[in-house]
Amino acid sequence: MSTAAANRQFFDAISETYDTKPFFVKVNQEVTDDLRNRLDWIGIPFTNTGSPSDVDSVRQLDYACGTGLMTRVFGPYVTQTLGIDVSPNMVAVYNARARAAGLPPSAIYATVGDLFDKENPSPNGAEWDGFDLVTSSFAFHHFEDVVHAARCLKDHLRPGGVLLINDFLEGGDLKADDDGKPIEGTEGTWAHRHHHGHGKRDEQHHHDRAEAGHEHSREPGTMAASIVAKGASFTIEGVKKFFAQAGLVDVDVVTMGKRVYLEMGGQKLWRTILFARGRRPVEGKFEL
Ligand SMILES: C[S@@+](CC[C@H](N)C(=O)[O-])C[C@H]1O[C@@H](n2cnc3c(N)ncnc32)[C@H](O)[C@@H]1O
Repeated sequence: MSTAAANRQFFDAISETYDTKPFFVKVNQEVTDDLRNRLDWIGIPFTNTGSPSDVDSVRQLDYACGTGLMTRVFGPYVTQTLGIDVSPNMVAVYNARARAAGLPPSAIYATVGDLFDKENPSPNGAEWDGFDLVTSSFAFHHFEDVVHAARCLKDHLRPGGVLLINDFLEGGDLKADDDGKPIEGTEGTWAHRHHHGHGKRDEQHHHDRAEAGHEHSREPGTMAASIVAKGASFTIEGVKKFFAQAGLVDVDVVTMGKRVYLEMGGQKLWRTILFARGRRPVEGKFEL
């Protein structure tokens, strides 16, 4: 089974309850608050922020949108958001929530697709190009080849547009006790990697591919696992490196000021979230 197919199967099965647990609601709120306080850092003009740099039209692509965290974060400051996810059930929840909120498909709409499929990337067409902002939240640790992923997403930006991702910082975990309280002195990388429907054969397969040089993304800190990999994490330098390899410029990576509490795969952890941004170069700008 391909990585994308494993992801589809896994997220199809959990779409209804994916982000409804109280701790998840809290994490999503913390991410929302943090990002809305960093609009300047993201580095594109938005709409409706009250700033003199505001513009009339801002188009966002929310890639691996799931139920739409990044769509909700930026909803007030963009004019249109399109979503893409490999899981039909996640897409169904995404669209149902937008309609329930009274938002028309012309403003918010997601479809099933996989831009990273090397034989048959989808969706296609002009409406899926030229975005001002491409977001991808808690998703890069699920992608098989992060350089390819970042490059594909860059190609869907307008020149000067920005790719923004978030994920977990390697070494940024603290263990929690049964009550969810952080256990001091347990700093490290504690989240298990979960392999859904995969076994040693796939590990070996990916090891072989990495050995054969087919995967740039297996260097330490740039990609912790290649199958549906809950818990994988990235170093700041690793993200900077694969963003640069993908051809992004003006790259910066920051971490959220405080850890967030998560329960994943039977573990209770306080984890550090990182945000990374990189810009599609404006052709010719640096040749003057
Ligand atoms: C952990 S969820 C994150 C969902 C959402 N972005 C959020 O922050 O809540 C990861 C999402 O990535 C999607 N996904 C995984 N691989 C993908 C791919 N190659 N193309 C599109 N979506 C993918 C999954 O279906 C899932 O909805």
